[in-house]
Amino acid sequence: MYKQLEQRGMESPPVNVGLLREMRQTREPIACLTAYDASFAQLVDMAGTDVVLVGDSLGMVIQGLDTTVPVTVDDIIYHSRCVARGLLRAFLMVDMPFMSYTTREQALDNAIRIMQEGGAKMVKLETGRGQVAIVEHLAKQDIPLCAHLGLKPQSVHKLGGFKVQGRDEEAAQLMIGEAKALESAGADMLLLECVPSPLGAAIRDAVQIPVIGIGAGPGVDGQILVLYDVLGITQGRMPRFVKNYMTGRDSPLEALRAYVRGVKDRSYPAEEHGFSQ
Ligand code: KIV
Repeated sequence: MYKQLEQRGMESPPVNVGLLREMRQTREPIACLTAYDASFAQLVDMAGTDVVLVGDSLGMVIQGLDTTVPVTVDDIIYHSRCVARGLLRAFLMVDMPFMSYTTREQALDNAIRIMQEGGAKMVKLETGRGQVAIVEHLAKQDIPLCAHLGLKPQSVHKLGGFKVQGRDEEAAQLMIGEAKALESAGADMLLLECVPSPLGAAIRDAVQIPVIGIGAGPGVDGQILVLYDVLGITQGRMPRFVKNYMTGRDSPLEALRAYVRGVKDRSYPAEEHGFSQ
C-alpha cells in the first residue's frame, strides 16, 4: 500500500479519522471532493484530496435525475466500489441514500453493506434531531459517520427547493443544538451545506469534531465541492459557492491540484462564495 503511494508520488500515509481530527486541531484545512468512478478517483487522489465522497449527487451528475431522491443503496455501492479502486491515500466517505436509514436496524444493515461491499471507510447521513438515535446506534457499532446538516437535498420535496438554511436566529440556534447533539451521539464529522458563513463558523466553534462545508463559508475545518462543478462539466446556473478550476488550465489534474491548493491556502472559499446571515 505505502509502496504504491510512493509510486504515485505521495509522501503522506492514507488519511484516517485520527488524522482528520488532528488536521482540525492544527487548523490544516481538509480538502474534499466527490467522485463516482475509478479514473476520476485516481486523479482526485493524485491531486492530494484528503476525503473523497461518493455522494448521492450521482443521481444528478451521473444518472441525469433532478434530485437525489431516487438513488438506491445498490447504486451507491456500485459507484463506491469503482471509486475505492482508484484511491490510495484519500479517505472514502459514502452517502447513505434517501430512506436507507429510517430505523436503527435498517441503518445498520445498510451501513454494513456500504462498508463491506462498497469499501466505504465512513458513511454520511442527512440528519437532524430525528436521526440522533440512529447516529448513536451506528456509533455504538464503531461505524465511522458524518452527520450532514443545513440544506439536506434528500428533503428537497419537503423544503420546497434547494435553499440556504439557518438564516434566522431561531433556525440557526436549532442547528447549533443539532450539531452538538449529533456530536454527543457519536458523529465523527459534520458536513454543513448552504448555511450563512457566520453560522458555519459558529457551528465549528460549538463542536470538537471536524466540520466540512459546502457553501458554509471559510470558518469551518474543510471544504467539499462536487467534482463535475470544479471541472466545469456541469451545465446551467451554478450555486454561488461553486468555483470552476478548469478556467485557464489545461488538464483536469492541474485543475484539481489548484482546488486542493486553494482550500489549503484558504484562498477558497472567498467571500463571494459564501451566504450572509
Ligand atoms: O451528494 C453530495 O455530493 C453531497 C455534497 C453536496 C456534499 O452530499
